[in-house]
Amino acid sequence: MAATGSEQGSKAYYVTTPIYYVNDAPHLGHAYTTVAGDVLTRWHRQRGEKVWYLTGTDEHGQKIMRTAEANGVSPLEWCDKLVEEAWKPLWEHLDIKNDDFIRTTEKRHTERVREFVQDLYDKGEIYQGGYEGPYCVGCEEYKTYGELLEGEGEFAGQKLCPIHRAPVEMLQEENYFFKLSEYGPKLLEHYEQHPEFIQPESARNEVVNFVRQGLEDLSISRSTFDWGVKVPWDDKHVIYVWIDALLNYATAVGYGSDQERFERTFPADVHLVGKDILRFHAVIWPAMLMANGLPLPGKIAANGWLMVGGEKMSKSNLTGISPQQLTEHFGVDAYRWYFLRAIAFGQDGSFSWEDFSARYTSELANDYGNLASRVAAMVGKYFGGTLPEAKAAGEAEQAVVDGLAKAVDEADRRIGEELDFSGGIAAVFDFVKQVNGYLTEQAPWKVAKDESPEAQARLATILYTAAESLRACAVLLNPVMPETSGKLWDSLGAEPHLGPVSEQRVGDAARWGQLPVGATVTKGAVLFPRLEEQK
Ligand code: MSP
Repeated sequence: MAATGSEQGSKAYYVTTPIYYVNDAPHLGHAYTTVAGDVLTRWHRQRGEKVWYLTGTDEHGQKIMRTAEANGVSPLEWCDKLVEEAWKPLWEHLDIKNDDFIRTTEKRHTERVREFVQDLYDKGEIYQGGYEGPYCVGCEEYKTYGELLEGEGEFAGQKLCPIHRAPVEMLQEENYFFKLSEYGPKLLEHYEQHPEFIQPESARNEVVNFVRQGLEDLSISRSTFDWGVKVPWDDKHVIYVWIDALLNYATAVGYGSDQERFERTFPADVHLVGKDILRFHAVIWPAMLMANGLPLPGKIAANGWLMVGGEKMSKSNLTGISPQQLTEHFGVDAYRWYFLRAIAFGQDGSFSWEDFSARYTSELANDYGNLASRVAAMVGKYFGGTLPEAKAAGEAEQAVVDGLAKAVDEADRRIGEELDFSGGIAAVFDFVKQVNGYLTEQAPWKVAKDESPEAQARLATILYTAAESLRACAVLLNPVMPETSGKLWDSLGAEPHLGPVSEQRVGDAARWGQLPVGATVTKGAVLFPRLEEQK
């Protein structure tokens, strides 16, 4: 049986996003998966693991070719422009820390794709045949008749792709085929032995049912257009764009060019994918790897769709809202936080300004931001900005310490292991609520009025407890909101003593008493400005 990522000792924790089609600029849906991957990899970095985070663009195939033609430029010119002017800048804007960005038009990819396919051919896994069937250019996929929808209105009398709700095209071609049908039993065995391989459960069930029905061989070349990687033994054909695209996960980490690096990184621990492209990743990709004797990924994690009007958000039915419009209003960190917080990962969800505004105001501004500013203000007012010692800790403080330990465990399990971002973030915000409750009960502003040494010791203890709690929140929320955590870290005066927030370990976050007595606490920038002040 092929080894999974987690079985290999010093290997990097390797996470990928799908490589996106560059027929247009990125939208909220693409950003959703990419932010999720960024949070996951930042989390693992803060666990102290070696991590590799890959994203990139899928630039071959008919869809890109037609878009470029419609715009009167060559496909490569089109891709160059979009990658440089739209895709890379958005990832930078959203603070995505990918380690590499692969484009399928790069030589480091195309040459290795040819080698991989040649190897399969040499092994007798590929044969020549003919095919006729309905094809959706939006999906770049042959469809089965059973899944097509009847067109209505402008599409009356035509058959539609169930994902794009646009007419399919009938294709008839001489193609090369991969013997996918032979891999059904081996795939089922793998799903059985690795129940964690496909996530969530609903996605796993869908794939298992699909494979149980029997797989057909897969057409892996196209011969009616030429925007792709040429089939090595027959240059009238280009390699099917999905075979080309899936191989990015191998070519980007040294497949066929840097064996040592390849072994340190491959296979991926997690392939993040939208549920629309689950089968490619959970069926075709592992079969390709099996056919070439390569190890299988640890997990295919399918995220749900961001919906608009009951349909998957896509180029043709955009909300009209770009990621940049939202970040302009709410800020980059709140944007990164919102979609992961509001939608259970794996489920569909929709965006609304009202929901975003309400959550921003209640959880970010009122609960978290206010806590940070109140604590800094009180340390300033009562102790001249120097963090006092907690000399009089009692039961109330112990409850906070315990609450933190629970939050760390839960957040680490949910985000780091289960990819339950919403649950993990909620665990930290429950702790924020607990600390707010603690302050309300202890009422340091009242204690401050009493000048007795006992009262002053209590006051110091309360403020130390709150500040130390914030230290832990900054660490735990850094993967989600790095800029905010940096600001809070500065305001707590933590860096000179503890080093940068991004270098703090998740596993160490609950260790109480790290913020040193005497740290300089300042009332820094407002973490989450009121929304009405922003526009
Ligand atoms: N190029 C292929 C993927 C090849 S991977 C080897 C592709 N590209 S895509 O541009 O269509 O992007 C697909 C991915 O973008 C989805 O799988 C998903 O991760 C993300 N999303 C695109 N629209 C989305 C939503 N409306 N909602 C959530 N995610 C979405 O398919």
